[in-house]
Amino acid sequence: MVFPGMAAKWSRPPRLGLTFERRSRLGLEAAEVRETSRGPDLDLKSWRNVQDPFPLYAWLRDHDPLHWSESLSAWVVTRYEDVVAIFDRPETFSSDRFRKIDERYASQRPAVRAVAQVLGDWLVFRDPPDHDRLRGLLQSSFTPKQLASSRDRIQRTVDALLDRAAARGAMDFIRELAFPLPATVIAGLMGAPEEDLEPIKTWSDRLAAYLGGAVDARDNFAEASAGVAGLVDYFRALLRERERRPRDDLTSLMVRAKHEGDRLTRDEVVANCILLLFAGHETTTNLLGNGLFHLLRHPAEAALLRADPSLLHGAVEELLRYDGPVPATVKVATEDVPWRGRTIRRGDMVVPFMASANRDPRQFPDPDTLDVRRHPERHVAFAAGIHFCLGAWLARLEARVVFDTVLRRLPELALAPGEPRWKPMIFLRGLESLPLTWGRT
Ligand code: HEM
Repeated sequence: MVFPGMAAKWSRPPRLGLTFERRSRLGLEAAEVRETSRGPDLDLKSWRNVQDPFPLYAWLRDHDPLHWSESLSAWVVTRYEDVVAIFDRPETFSSDRFRKIDERYASQRPAVRAVAQVLGDWLVFRDPPDHDRLRGLLQSSFTPKQLASSRDRIQRTVDALLDRAAARGAMDFIRELAFPLPATVIAGLMGAPEEDLEPIKTWSDRLAAYLGGAVDARDNFAEASAGVAGLVDYFRALLRERERRPRDDLTSLMVRAKHEGDRLTRDEVVANCILLLFAGHETTTNLLGNGLFHLLRHPAEAALLRADPSLLHGAVEELLRYDGPVPATVKVATEDVPWRGRTIRRGDMVVPFMASANRDPRQFPDPDTLDVRRHPERHVAFAAGIHFCLGAWLARLEARVVFDTVLRRLPELALAPGEPRWKPMIFLRGLESLPLTWGRT
């Protein structure tokens, strides 16, 4: 799911400073944080910290668990206990931060208005009681039970995508499988025909420039409003069509959804169709990419899965914990809050780092070890509390089918030589590409 709106931008080359090693207070890990001439490099947006943020997370958890980040202009929260506490207090840590940003920028940038109107109806940016109403309505359409046929569709799509590459002996896993699969699956669930995927993807990318990009870049707003306009027109037309001739798809279900005597308005259906479409692809792409990358870097773990596919359920959870696609999200304090001896002021942005919480040794023993037999049930890769990811079951299902099929069909699968490059984002984590090789089948 893509919510927060800050991509990492760096204008300077990575600093190659000294590093220092240190035993944590718990004696459980050795953390290294990059040094700069001005001390430890605590900039979450610096190139090196984006490529490998885990040493910095460890340092922050031990030394500054409520950290004021100059580069994010926000409080950064890194311990498991604190991250969960933030999700547990939605009245104090509001999700309506989108409007806050909108208020700050809208007057200068009218293009934001169009975007704000649509995103303002996304349940992920709403607080109770509106959130609960929208979630109840959406949940009644988007459930594992109603969408039980998804498994077959996913399996067919994965097989078809792999068939295209199998004889070649090599592929870019991101471009050829991890990207097209979730986009095809979610568009199919919504009832969008396959031939519309291309324009949908273009509009969606333009919106991503706003949600994933820097908030003060004028072009991002223009791009986003063009993207939103395309998506709104598209889903309005689809909605009209489904109102006339309902089908067995999510759009038709949302039109009819009722919860405690309530219904979604047409604008809400359109906005939340866009949310599901948007939320449903890049995140899952990155779960597939990050997950397979780490499995192939840990051949003993991949061998365990090959030998006993019943481990797949737990393995997907462990991969989400180990290096999930959504490292952090953004909340806004609605009141002054005392926190670890300091005060978070009303209106301050607070960024809970789920990726750090998931590596907190206070919660997960030996957290930097990938262990597919671990069963890390209480990881927070999908957040927790009232905004817990609505699509978690779908993402998990896609991941299980993909890892199972790929490991089964391509026994000699290996990473192609070369260093991984992570996308320049801090709120989304995914590889630019993932070149793989295997013996031809
Ligand atoms: C591995 C893939 C995914 C990850 C890691 C992920 C992560 C998240 C996270 C962290 C949140 C909470 C955000 C917050 O509180 O600010 C969230 C919410 C949400 N996600 Fe996902 N997501 C994934 C896939 C999906 C998919 C496939 C869909 C739907 C097709 C989806 C739909 C949603 C929706 C609708 C919400 C809002 C729930 C609410 O506000 O009540 N996500 N997701």
